[in-house]
Amino acid sequence: SADQPQPAQQLSAAAVAQPTGKLTIIHASQTGNAKGVAEALKEEASAAGIAVELFAAGDYKGKNLAKETHVIIVASTHGEGEAPDDAIELHEFLQSKKAPKLPNLKYAVIGLGDSSYEFFCQTAKDFDSYLSRLGGESILERLDCDVDYDAPAAEWRAKALEKVKETLSIGEAEVVQLPVANSQQAVSQYSKQNPYEATLLTSQKITGRRSGKDVRHIEIDLEDSGLTYQPGDALGVWYENDSVLAEALAARVGLDGTENVEVDGEALSLKQALISKYEITAANPQLVTKYAELSGSKKLEKLVADKDKLRQYAGQTQVIDVLAEKKSKLTAEQLIGLLRRLTPRLYSIASSQEEVGEEVHLTVGVVEYENGDETRQGGASSHLSYRLEDGDNVKVFVETNNNFKLPADDNTPVIMIGPGTGIAPFRAFVQERDNREAKGKNWLFFGDRTFTEDFLYQVEWQKYLKSGVVSQIDVAFSRDQVEKVYVQHRLLEHAAQVWQWLQDGAHVYVCGDANHMAKDVHEALVTIAEQQGQQNREQAEQYLNELRKNKRYQRDVY
Ligand code: 2AM
Repeated sequence: SADQPQPAQQLSAAAVAQPTGKLTIIHASQTGNAKGVAEALKEEASAAGIAVELFAAGDYKGKNLAKETHVIIVASTHGEGEAPDDAIELHEFLQSKKAPKLPNLKYAVIGLGDSSYEFFCQTAKDFDSYLSRLGGESILERLDCDVDYDAPAAEWRAKALEKVKETLSIGEAEVVQLPVANSQQAVSQYSKQNPYEATLLTSQKITGRRSGKDVRHIEIDLEDSGLTYQPGDALGVWYENDSVLAEALAARVGLDGTENVEVDGEALSLKQALISKYEITAANPQLVTKYAELSGSKKLEKLVADKDKLRQYAGQTQVIDVLAEKKSKLTAEQLIGLLRRLTPRLYSIASSQEEVGEEVHLTVGVVEYENGDETRQGGASSHLSYRLEDGDNVKVFVETNNNFKLPADDNTPVIMIGPGTGIAPFRAFVQERDNREAKGKNWLFFGDRTFTEDFLYQVEWQKYLKSGVVSQIDVAFSRDQVEKVYVQHRLLEHAAQVWQWLQDGAHVYVCGDANHMAKDVHEALVTIAEQQGQQNREQAEQYLNELRKNKRYQRDVY
């Protein structure tokens, strides 16, 4: 208000000639990462005196591209090279006959993705080639960022803005002074770069003693952080690696961990860097490729020559085991040169604040397997489950996911398909709907290995079923009989009823394994549309595509 002291508007020392014309930034985001990069770009552009507009792909009319002079697209890719749900329409439009010619357009594209996947940054590649084919001129080479994208994306943004400034027409020596962004704003909210030090309340094993899996129910106290979340959002968790593994990794290449290294201009011991700055559990194709070269391992060289085999190997091998393929002595710099920077893990939130207030709950599957006589563990899951004790601090932030949200209308029925830890967001959904006394029906499909050992949150589900909050639960316990029974089989068994729910406007949510489950569930839904809706395959696919566009079919798969 007017009587409150306003923060002094500092003026930048250098007066800047303001360009005329404007830059349009469009983000195609699934979980919010691309949106984050786009927002940073917008702020930097504004600070550089560039008029700028920011759009989510879903809010941008493709034909308006014909009127633009400068566009930057920030696009992430998910699944099998698919565009984020929000961007399907724009993506389809640009490859259709309806797409306008773009002779006046200068553009640049930056992609976010994960190079462990086959269709790495495919959506960004697509946008780049569509815009170019329509006559647009690329002003900066596309950058395909890997999971550790913060630094490369920041560098690319700076270059892109230079190019934009060069080519936006500069007004007649009109000199304006620009306010410097108020730096307090940037730090007032917790984020990936500025996480909140929360407290671990409990970590409880919720699979049975004889289960083959260790799944934890974890409760974290957000105290007075002011952090809020909605069902469907994820919690970002920063973790530290096991110090024993850090030492073993150093030893494997002939180092002892006391060597000095520099990370981001900070000097620290190799061991500390391996614990807190680098990913030292899961391998990735780049690491295998680099180490093949360094070590001259014949086995690795062969793998590098076959992309599919390389991805498969990297996906199921840990860093320390890649380095064991052929022993070689490395310097500390060489070792960290092989590694990716540590990035936080995102866990789908398993609670609703309507129910738990300032807490946040997670359902974490602990990754652990034997390799010969050694045990290999996942980085973040073992940190949360084994190394942290109740009362310890854990650095967290909330990652909004607008592509996995309950229907705005509480009367809308929902179908939730979440085998294994994919159950997490549905616990949040049902808590929320229970507290809101939502009238819409809720139908849950859950699957896991065995009824007695792996029925996650069984008691809670039974309570919800009894009180009528959940109207139906169908379970598939794959190892309780000779033949495998999975959630998609349960869907197909209830094809007519699923179809009826869809006719009644139900939203469908799928959470969990992306590689097999989500594909098989998708296939089951296609089959249901074919059989029950008397559609051919193409129409059925189209039907599901429409559901996706209308946010009635949402997926959170990993
Ligand atoms: P399985 O391991 O016995 O084959 C949660 O992890 C559950 O998902 C387990 O019961 C697992 O079964 C099951 N699962 C494995 N592959 C699947 C697939 N293709 N579709 C659906 N569920 C699957």
